[in-house]
Order: sequence, then structure tokens, then C-alpha cells
Amino acid sequence: MTTATGAYKNGDILLGVMGDPIAQSKSPIMHGAALRAMGIAGAYVPLHVAPEKLEEAIQAIRTLGFRGVNVTIPHKVAVMAHLDHLDETAVAIGAVNTIVNNNGVLTGYNTDGIGYVRSLKTEVISELNGAKIMVIGAGGAARGIVSALLQEHPSSIIIANRTAATASDLAKAYSSQGELTGISMGEVAGMMDDVDVLINTTSVGMFPQMDETPLDSALLHEGMVVSDLIYNPLRTRLLLEALECGCRIHGGLGMFVYQGAYALEYWTGQPAPTDIMRKTILDCLG
Ligand code: ATR
Repeated sequence: MTTATGAYKNGDILLGVMGDPIAQSKSPIMHGAALRAMGIAGAYVPLHVAPEKLEEAIQAIRTLGFRGVNVTIPHKVAVMAHLDHLDETAVAIGAVNTIVNNNGVLTGYNTDGIGYVRSLKTEVISELNGAKIMVIGAGGAARGIVSALLQEHPSSIIIANRTAATASDLAKAYSSQGELTGISMGEVAGMMDDVDVLINTTSVGMFPQMDETPLDSALLHEGMVVSDLIYNPLRTRLLLEALECGCRIHGGLGMFVYQGAYALEYWTGQPAPTDIMRKTILDCLG
């Protein structure tokens, strides 16, 4: 086993990430570097778990005494049925990406949305109170982000999606928490004027389809913050065009770093070394 600090000893903290596939995950490298920097003896390992083995794998967290695990595709929704408690944010989003084991009692959290917002606020816009936000896409990632953004008290959130009905459904699901509107992509142009923050949550522009962009750059305006959840490439076509338009840009790497940082903080109770985590991922992306 690869460990953060050399040979694994009884009593060291055991962590991991469950997914299928899992070999591509950068989480073990990022968390391994973080544990070393924090001086915590332990290991964070990739755990290949097929869907039909999920329940057994969750039981094994208890049996083997893992302090916690991250959960990734395709288990984020299915895992909820096998946990003892769910944090209210995880319930609202309908997905779990982090499990904490307290003496055999497993609690599921979702750190994706709060990780994204912490990254956005740390890196590009410190205050979202009163901001007008447009989210492109209405899938699982958008759901987590909208949930976390609402805690920041934006003036409004417009959700634009290829399938307008999905955008409306998401807007309705959160309508008690803020002013939300669901629209089609065709309606974006008419709603764009005073948008402060534009966020792409779709996979449009992701490697290897890097020539694609979710929206016409003529709709962007100077001073706007343009954010993309994609981190491969680090700068999508949307972000490159936004830079040319005088926008402030924010890529998806920070979300990955901070969702991991929150998880590590839940497991260890200590602040995560986010600079080291970011540098580790940048080095490994080459
Ligand atoms: P995730 O968990 O990454 O959000 P998802 O739940 O499958 O994945 O949601 C993907 C989102 O990206 C959806 O909003 C999807 O739009 P539809 O609801 O119309 O399917 C959007 N999306 C994916 N590919 C897209 C494309 N090529 N153009 C526009 N939107 C796209």
C-alpha cells in the first residue's frame, strides 16, 4: 500500500476514494500530499468498487476502521441508502461525496457545492451577497452549486439549460430559498445584461472537445466573473474568450481542491493545506 508517511501502522488514519473506474482519480495523490504536509500518519487509497459491491464496500469501511472515504462516479446517489446519517446539504442535493466514520456510524456529506463556492470566493470574488448569478446546466453538478450559492444570499440565480424543463424543475426545487428562474439556452441573451457571475456546469469544452463553448462570447461583458467547473483543460475556450472580453475568470481546479479540503477537514478536524493540494494537482496535470 502507498502511504503518506511510509509503512502503514495500526492506529494511523485510513482514508480512500470509492469509484468505478477509479484509476484516473487524482484524489489519492492530492490527499497523500496533504496528509504529509499536515504531519498526519495515514494513507488515502483508491478503492475500485463495482456498483453491485457498493453495500459490502460501505460495510467494509466500518469493519476495516476507515476514518472516511470520498465517493465518486457512479456511487454518489446510490451510496445514500447505505449510510446511518445524511447531512442536510447532502439530502438537499441528493448526492454524497464524503463519508465520515465515527466509531462505525457513517454520515454522508456533500462538499462539492461548498467546495466550489469556497474556491470562487477565495480566488475571484469575495462577496456574493446581492450578486446576480447565471448557472449554465441543470444536472447534478448544478444542483450542488445552486444549493451552496443560495447560502451566500445572491440577489437572484438564473439557471439556463439545453433542456429548459430541467432548468425550471431545479429552480422550483429551491424556490423557497431564493429568487430562481429556469430558462432555455435560447433565452440567455435577453437575461444577460446585469449578470455578475456566469458559471458553466456542463461538460461542454472539456478535453478532448476543447473547441466547444456553451455560449456565444458576444454575450459576455467586461468585469463579469466567468467560471467554469472544467479543469481539463485548466482554461476552457469559454474562459479564454472571457479573458479577451475583459472578464475575470475562474477555472474548475479550485473546486476539486476545496471539495477535498472540506472532506479532509471533516476527517481530521484540522485546516487543509490547500496551496499544497493545488500545487500537487497542477504538477500532476503537467
Ligand atoms: P453532472 O453531474 O456533471 O452535472 P449531469 O447530471 O448528466 O452531469 O448533467 C449534465 C448537464 O450538462 C445537463 O444540464 C445537460 O443538459 P441537458 O439537461 O439538456 O441534458 C448539460 N449538457 C451536457 N452536455 C451538453 C451539451 N453538449 N450541450 C449543452 N448542455 C449539455
